[in-house]
Amino acid sequence: MHLLGLESLSRDEITGLLDAATDFLGVGRDTPKRTDLAGKVIANLFYEPSTRTRLSFTLAARRVGAETLDFSPGGSSTAKGESFVDTARNIVAMGVDAVVVRHSSSGAPKLLADQFARHLREQHVGVVNAGDGAHAHPTQGLLDMFTIRQRKGRIEGLTIALVGDILHSRVARSNIHGLTKLGAKVIACGPPTLVPPEVAQFGVEIAHDLDAILPRCDVINLLRVQFERQRSAFFPSVGEYAHVFGMNGDRLRRADKEVLILAPGPINRGVEITPDVADGPNSAILDQVTNGVAVRMAVLKRACHRP
Ligand code: NCD
Repeated sequence: MHLLGLESLSRDEITGLLDAATDFLGVGRDTPKRTDLAGKVIANLFYEPSTRTRLSFTLAARRVGAETLDFSPGGSSTAKGESFVDTARNIVAMGVDAVVVRHSSSGAPKLLADQFARHLREQHVGVVNAGDGAHAHPTQGLLDMFTIRQRKGRIEGLTIALVGDILHSRVARSNIHGLTKLGAKVIACGPPTLVPPEVAQFGVEIAHDLDAILPRCDVINLLRVQFERQRSAFFPSVGEYAHVFGMNGDRLRRADKEVLILAPGPINRGVEITPDVADGPNSAILDQVTNGVAVRMAVLKRACHRP
């Protein structure tokens, strides 16, 4: 079964994945490896740089018994002009059960899923979106939700701010779909140039003043400014951004004592978050990474499931 985004998943499907991930937490570390995916092969197709997501998928696959194949375009036939779809179909022809795709083009995983649907031998192959352009990053959304649920005991009724570059953030989009489905109040906060007004259609509140919303937040998820996706300047300077939207010790003191600080990583220390906050007791940034492995075990098991 594919996982292209959280938009198409029901509340029960999301909760089911979070529950399955709870069952996988600690597998391969605190408890023995499992064999849920023994004999299965997972191919990682990463067309964009990645540290956490790629390694996390690989580790998740291995800890539930799957074999992994790692592809990156550097040093491959992509340099000889082979298309993304052809490369993927060739890798699948080697005998693969699921492909994990990261691509700078929004819609690349969906394109692959549509192609696979046309060809008999590829119809059973699950496509998992590991981040496509500014569109979606469903496993990041799930691991953020998992971490919130773990630390706060629930998601429903919480006020959760997504702060920063909402416009270019696939993490923001997946958080918005997942969190609103599970009954959270979501606030998108950032400079007017980086918060698209369309997010309001999903029931999201728009804010441009972090200090004003700070005391209401149960969770603050600090998104990285996606400099690589910005074609022009969206704010005067990095220093100005940090001053107005960066999470620092002073802001933390004005927030709820129990506020949970999240960041998908990579973090830019001193831009969206200062080191004292990133490494402080309110931060769950490294828990997110730990939880991400369990979440991806659950997602890969679903992806390899043949109905
Ligand atoms: C994010 C991504 O690549 O979308 N990182 C991640 O997967 N942990 C966020 C980012 O790059 O800022």
